[in-house]
Amino acid sequence: MALVCVEDYEKEAFRNIPKNTLEFYRSGAGSEFSLALNVDAFKRWRILPRFLRDVGGVNTACSILGCKLSTPIGVAPTAMQRVIHDDGEIGNARAAGKVGGIFILSTVSTTSLEEVAKAAPNTSKWFQLYIYKDRSLTESLVRRAENAGYKAIVMTIDCAHFGARRADARYKFKLPSHLGLLNFQGDRASNAKSMQGFSGIQEYANAQYDQSITWADVDWLVKFTKLPVIAKGVLTREDAFLARDYGCKGIIVSNHGARQLDSVPATIEVLPTIVDVVGNDMTIMFDGGVRQGTDVFKALALGAKAVFMGRPLLWGLAVNGQKGAEHVLELVQRDLELTMKLSGCVNVSDITKDYIAHESQFSKL
Ligand SMILES: Cc1cc2nc3c(=O)[nH]c(=O)nc-3n(C[C@H](O)[C@H](O)[C@H](O)COP(=O)(O)O)c2cc1C
Repeated sequence: MALVCVEDYEKEAFRNIPKNTLEFYRSGAGSEFSLALNVDAFKRWRILPRFLRDVGGVNTACSILGCKLSTPIGVAPTAMQRVIHDDGEIGNARAAGKVGGIFILSTVSTTSLEEVAKAAPNTSKWFQLYIYKDRSLTESLVRRAENAGYKAIVMTIDCAHFGARRADARYKFKLPSHLGLLNFQGDRASNAKSMQGFSGIQEYANAQYDQSITWADVDWLVKFTKLPVIAKGVLTREDAFLARDYGCKGIIVSNHGARQLDSVPATIEVLPTIVDVVGNDMTIMFDGGVRQGTDVFKALALGAKAVFMGRPLLWGLAVNGQKGAEHVLELVQRDLELTMKLSGCVNVSDITKDYIAHESQFSKL
């Protein structure tokens, strides 16, 4: 049977990946209410198509924070991708390059940032930063990302303390011993490099990540790096204002794939109000629950300029390595193009809030 959508890849990956590994990658925080909501909330938005417009030349080219792209669809940072398939981060970075979208590399990757840069020179790459208690280690990560040609630093703001994932407590997932966190090299970094000695990823993160970080650290980062800083994990208007005022060039509206605090809103629920207040001041981007082209279209219509997927790329890797990741991105890209054709939008800049309505509008009719 051909795999024709992300859901097909997800089902196939669930069959392939051993249970304790799968649970780490699949799961969300707490009762997984927000995990389901991230996907479900898209269904509450309807697309309003316009017809009899020449849609022969649909084009998804766009420019995000200086990166010229063929598509607004990109790959969100996810940890330790070589656990899923040996192609890992390099496979995903090359897949993003193939469709002309952004690849964001996680701090906790199983391939070093330099190796990824070397293996995928033509992909637009951003580096996701966790702030470690060891500040000189954090600083060296930023400098290395600058030197290796990454085009932005994505500071994750929602993970000073790790979320409580029941799957982690049950299965205590650990990085297999043949893999390492390869952004950490040398003696000084050996604690950060290895998960050995910790009972699982949660204990590792809580021991290594700096829980005392505040907006003053964003201020520090903005001044420290020559690259644009993007705050990832914004869910409220107030934090969007702060990100802007502390000098971030962009934000990613994200709830960390619902892996941090359960009961937070779906990201698509909060996107419109955030765009409303800071959409003219900075680049608003989005992730969480995106599984098809219509989801991408809806996020763009609500004001996002780029839309990232996390788990779908892991399922692509699990099924067929880099080729699977490429296929997942191609499927969603083709679905976006089809959605644009069928709704009368030729360019991504044509996709505006005129093309979308929340279901509550219909209940008033
Ligand atoms: C297994 C897994 C690992 C993740 N690792 C990171 C990470 O290292 N850094 C980070 O900022 N976000 C991380 N995230 C969150 C993603 O960047 C992204 O916000 C989320 O996956 C988007 O939701 P989606 O999976 O529904 O597309 C991770 C998510 C998953 C599922």
